[in-house]
Amino acid sequence: MKITALVSVAAAIVAIAEAGNPNGHSIPLTRNPHFKHNTPAQIAKLNARYPGLNINKATTVKSGKVPVTDVHPDLEYYGTVSVGTPAQKVKLDFDTGSSDIWFPSSTCNTSACKKHTRFNASKSKTYKKDGRKWNIGYGDGSSASGILGSDIVNVGGISVRQTIGLATAESSQFASSPEDGLFGLAFSTIESVSGVKTFMDNAIAAKAISQPVVSVFLPSVRRNGGKGGEYLFGAIDKTKYTGNLHNVPVSQQGYWQILIEDASYNGVSLKQTSQGIVDTGTTLVIVSDAAAKAIHGKIKGAKNDPNNGWVVPCSLTSSKENVGFKLNGKTFNVPLADVAYEPLDDGSGDCFSGIQGGQNGLWILGDVFIKNNYCVFSHSAKPYIAIAPLKY
Ligand SMILES: *[C@@H]1O[C@H](CO)[C@@H](O)[C@H](O)[C@H]1NC(C)=O
Ligand SMILES: *[C@@H]1O[C@H](CO)[C@@H](O)[C@H](O)[C@H]1NC(C)=O
Repeated sequence: MKITALVSVAAAIVAIAEAGNPNGHSIPLTRNPHFKHNTPAQIAKLNARYPGLNINKATTVKSGKVPVTDVHPDLEYYGTVSVGTPAQKVKLDFDTGSSDIWFPSSTCNTSACKKHTRFNASKSKTYKKDGRKWNIGYGDGSSASGILGSDIVNVGGISVRQTIGLATAESSQFASSPEDGLFGLAFSTIESVSGVKTFMDNAIAAKAISQPVVSVFLPSVRRNGGKGGEYLFGAIDKTKYTGNLHNVPVSQQGYWQILIEDASYNGVSLKQTSQGIVDTGTTLVIVSDAAAKAIHGKIKGAKNDPNNGWVVPCSLTSSKENVGFKLNGKTFNVPLADVAYEPLDDGSGDCFSGIQGGQNGLWILGDVFIKNNYCVFSHSAKPYIAIAPLKY
């Protein structure tokens, strides 16, 4: 907090914000005889004038909830984020599998950009130029590029100054996407431009959130019509899961990488193990070819079709059986009802499997896993993911 930038009325408020901190730059209240005990309103006014300051945010706003829309059929989930002053609202896909925050710039005239909300930096009085070039490519072959800038980013009331990517070009995959861009929630080590801090880095440093966590509830069309999905920054919603959260240590920071100790079918080990990532930005669970074969080998009627990958009978939607993934000693399930991901359009009665092979390096526990298990992504000194089965 830059106290030198503040007008005198701010000093009185800062004194209150820092009361109890003997090393703080506190000014005794008696020095301001005109001070009125109206701090919430004044803080709100100051925060409106200086959105980067977050004066006293630690006590006024400690967590922020962003509702997300479930794109049928649980293909992806996006929520609304406010950027700049006055706020421009963009729809972003929250992605624990990448770290950049980006959306189209108003200077982008490609058809993909024009189909989306384009952020106009000239309209924001808190926008700051950065000028570095930026580009990102994703595992599905999509990409975007442009320049970096910085502005106030507000997620569910948590507001920090943040480096953002303003896209001036994006690949055709984004033309049809309902969201405008992405909101990366992985670690700064995989930011496209090195040295850029993530939203969570900044929110933690600014003490804008009371706990260094992002808690994710992704619903499913099958279980509740896809309603009520949310990302909760700075808190954990205990009503969303059953039993206790189970901590799984992050084995390498970059992605949210963990050790998957085993895959199982109805509790019976399939003797498959790998490093993997928990990735909200990937729809399915993607494992090695060997693990995909072992899992589908247990499912009657499953087959590996050269055009569609693994397919399973859609009748599995009424099955009570599970595929399990063992994480730090505890098994978390994906019901076969979700392994029958989406019907093929050939009238065969077969469904695309929610578990596919081809990932012989890091496995990906995507939304098919997360829509069955509440995940708390914790940025503690030793990061971990706390997981528990979802409760509806
Ligand atoms: C961006 O905002 C500026 C300032 O209001 C305006 O002149 C310009 O036309 C806007 N650009 C677009 C592409 O809307
Ligand atoms: C996009 O169109 C606007 C308005 O016509 C124009 O001012 C701008 O220079 C164009 N941007 C690019 C990158 O061509």
